[in-house]
Amino acid sequence: MRRRLTALAAVLCGGLALLQLAAAQGNSQRPTTTAAAAPSASSPAGATTATGAQSALVARGHALFVSSCASCHGMSAQGIRGRAPSLHGVGAMAADFYLQTGRMPLPSPRVQPLRTKPAFPPRQIDALVAYVGSFGGPPIPVVHPSRGSLADGQRLFGLGAIVPSLNRATPRQVAQAIRIGPYVMPRFGAGELSEGQVDSLARYVQSIQHPDNRGGWGLGRIGPIPEGMVAWLLAAASLLLIARLIGERMPDQRDERAERTGAAHE
Ligand code: HEC
Repeated sequence: MRRRLTALAAVLCGGLALLQLAAAQGNSQRPTTTAAAAPSASSPAGATTATGAQSALVARGHALFVSSCASCHGMSAQGIRGRAPSLHGVGAMAADFYLQTGRMPLPSPRVQPLRTKPAFPPRQIDALVAYVGSFGGPPIPVVHPSRGSLADGQRLFGLGAIVPSLNRATPRQVAQAIRIGPYVMPRFGAGELSEGQVDSLARYVQSIQHPDNRGGWGLGRIGPIPEGMVAWLLAAASLLLIARLIGERMPDQRDERAERTGAAHE
């Protein structure tokens, strides 16, 4: 019995280790993309590779921009009068927000940018964001909803601070919408809402979203994996336990006794 328990414990430990691995991979995925988007490597060697990767990303972004955005925003994002504004200085923040929320590319310069499915896969969005960001402007904000206060968030929200389509907005998009002020929404600079207050608002918005809406956390592609693993792990563990218990319940008495005497002789 003890051996069986040990085996069960080993299975569980193995499962937990796998889970941690999955979580660690999930965590390491985002920093790599952010590092590529904003080169801030500390070592000179790291800096050169980061810059190399960065310029390759910007080049890919430029190619995408020419084919999908230049008809309105101009060949080098300088804007076209009467069609679309210049993107010089809007920064990675605005590009990321408009692309992640599917607001760009617009089908026509006269329609209002509304939230839809993103038109590009995440890697192309990264490239376009890097290209637009290369003209300067605010970077993608870093949000920490867990550091925010739910009470503060609710109070600020009650003051009418933000009104984007909140159901699907990720914490990052909430922060971006606050800073950008897309369409009719007013924009709030750091003087009007501090970083801590933005954290609180992001936390509050997260709390009022449907519980089944995972919020997408950044690119949100790894969320379901650990969850699925937990389910499988628990199912496997309980099946194993049930099998073991059934096994215990109908022992071949003679065999058991023989085992015991055998063990006593050793
Ligand atoms: C059909 C024309 C059109 C196309 C194509 C288009 N845009 Fe736009 N874009 C606009 C217009 C018009 C606005 C201004 C919208 C507004 O202010 O409500 C805009 C605004 C933006 C903004 C916000 C600028 C700001 O001041 O904050 C960004 C970022 C942007 N576009 C990026 C892109 C990118 C990247 C693409 C290509 C994937 C693209 N757009 C394709 C017409 C277009």
